[in-house]
Amino acid sequence: MKYFLDSAKMDEIKEAYSTFGIDGVTTNPRHIQASGKPFLTAIQDIADWIKEEGLEGIDKFPVSVEINPHIEDAETMISEAKKISAICKNFAIKIPATEAGVAAARALEKEGIRTNVTLVFSPAQAILPAKNGSLFVSPFIGWKEANGEDCRQYIKDIVDIYKNYGFYGKTQIICAAVRTPKQFVDCAVAGADIVTAGLAVYKDSMKHAYTRQGIETFQDAWDHTAGN
Ligand code: E4P
Repeated sequence: MKYFLDSAKMDEIKEAYSTFGIDGVTTNPRHIQASGKPFLTAIQDIADWIKEEGLEGIDKFPVSVEINPHIEDAETMISEAKKISAICKNFAIKIPATEAGVAAARALEKEGIRTNVTLVFSPAQAILPAKNGSLFVSPFIGWKEANGEDCRQYIKDIVDIYKNYGFYGKTQIICAAVRTPKQFVDCAVAGADIVTAGLAVYKDSMKHAYTRQGIETFQDAWDHTAGN
């Protein structure tokens, strides 16, 4: 399973890359807002860092960038997506999972512009983007589980559908808005290709009280070993 960072903050992207070796980045308008920069500056800064790190190429380090959420017709989505994708070849353009979004993603993929169909909340919404060749589909996990739903079957259903029809691995399933280490595990057990989460979730996933206790136990043994 690949790990993406859900953030547009450069300090977080750099830390997640150097510490955890993340495989890509996802952004959305909320993350851009949180970066404190205008949209174009925030995405240009990510593009510049990709160049500095020698990570150019969507297969090497994909970065999902969402179109202006006010655009709700396919034609304008397509022209907006083309402008964003011209900035950096690592960008996969995030398009909402609506009727217009599916049409736009289909047209963009035909022209070689890679897409991430986002805001997916049901397996039904995940099928057409795969059939039309989108590179990514983003079923949201955290938003649903925050409302009391258990997403394990929902992820597994998408994985199984993709396996049934040869989409698995071609359209990669990004489990999005992952908020807890347990959700990492649920996504991995279900066979998701990718999870995307904030930096704090990565940090939490490497914390365990027994690990801390074990380190302290071994430190004590070390300190009481004859000759140390
Ligand atoms: C993923 O692609 C989305 O940007 C994301 O997971 C939504 O996350 P948020 O709820 O943290 O904004």
